[in-house]
Amino acid sequence: MNSTALRWRDAMDRALYGPAGFFVAGAGPAGHFRTSAHASPAFAAAVFRLVTRLDAALGLPTPFDIVDVGAGRGELLRALATLADEAAGSLSSRLRLTAVELAPRPPDLPPAIDWTTETPTGITGLLLATEWLDNVPVDVAVPTETGWRYVLVNPSTGEETPGPPLTTEDHTWLTRWHPTSGPGGRVEVGRGRDLAWAGVVGCLRRGVALGVDYGHLRQARPVGGTLTGYRGGRQVPPVPDGSCDVTAHVAMDSVAAAGERAAGCAYTLVSQREALLALGADGGRPPLSLAGTDPAGYVRALAAASAVAELTDPAGLGGHWWLLQPVGVAVDALMAR
Ligand SMILES: C[S@@+](CC[C@H](N)C(=O)[O-])C[C@H]1O[C@@H](n2cnc3c(N)ncnc32)[C@H](O)[C@@H]1O
Repeated sequence: MNSTALRWRDAMDRALYGPAGFFVAGAGPAGHFRTSAHASPAFAAAVFRLVTRLDAALGLPTPFDIVDVGAGRGELLRALATLADEAAGSLSSRLRLTAVELAPRPPDLPPAIDWTTETPTGITGLLLATEWLDNVPVDVAVPTETGWRYVLVNPSTGEETPGPPLTTEDHTWLTRWHPTSGPGGRVEVGRGRDLAWAGVVGCLRRGVALGVDYGHLRQARPVGGTLTGYRGGRQVPPVPDGSCDVTAHVAMDSVAAAGERAAGCAYTLVSQREALLALGADGGRPPLSLAGTDPAGYVRALAAASAVAELTDPAGLGGHWWLLQPVGVAVDALMAR
């Protein structure tokens, strides 16, 4: 890797998506950290419930699109395809599955799943983006005596130095969305993520864009920022040399507002815990009496309940946000308990 200092956004872009980038050349996200999509089939089951409700609300369209932006190795699409095959009704024959990914197509991916680097336009159905936005490159800014400046980073060492002043657009974003940064507080500038989300929302003709990610709201931005790295299941310093994931929590409200402007429809933002419960995920323990009558069934039910408990734990995955951006359809009925 070149050691010329870069703005974080550029360093992150190269480290994750360049020719030797972490996501493009590496083992794939599942080898390094645990997302909801990998944690449990209960996540896919809840998303599938949303799919069936949305399918009905849209009048059983042909095709019904499921487009997964930042699809990893296609894990969630594979699970949804299986659930559709197992379900009664016509959905399975009407499904059109598309993975949008910068990494190469996995050799064992079922042929029914299309694999592309660009989000298709004219989508009718569900656009998914699970833990995508936290990997959309961000700039980092610091207040200095001469105003806000970008932080430059040495891609080989992670060493940082203050760089040029912020552009007017990024400064405006900061003033609007990050007014609470205290003295000395560095800030992640989320404007690029707003644009990225608005871009994929703009690809929906009718349906819902669902972004699932860890993030924060304006009234409680983390002081000092959240930029960090992951490698092999461990949190590591965020050195943008291509050897680790580099990620930062998402300013969910600013992203949501950008999507809302693009769609012209109000968004819904709820915790993953609320969303999964609304979609019927049941984290309740099975009755102990089942252990006596059906020991194997009891063990299965217990494993399923603990998987849901992990996905809905407010201190963990359950604290992630579900951003639902509808286009031409009402979200309330889709998320009713
Ligand atoms: C953290 S992983 C999430 C994978 C999966 N969605 C999950 O929840 O497990 C983020 C993925 O987004 C992909 N990605 C990031 N930016 C992208 C873009 N602009 N277009 C397509 N894929 C992108 C990365 O290559 C990576 O595989």
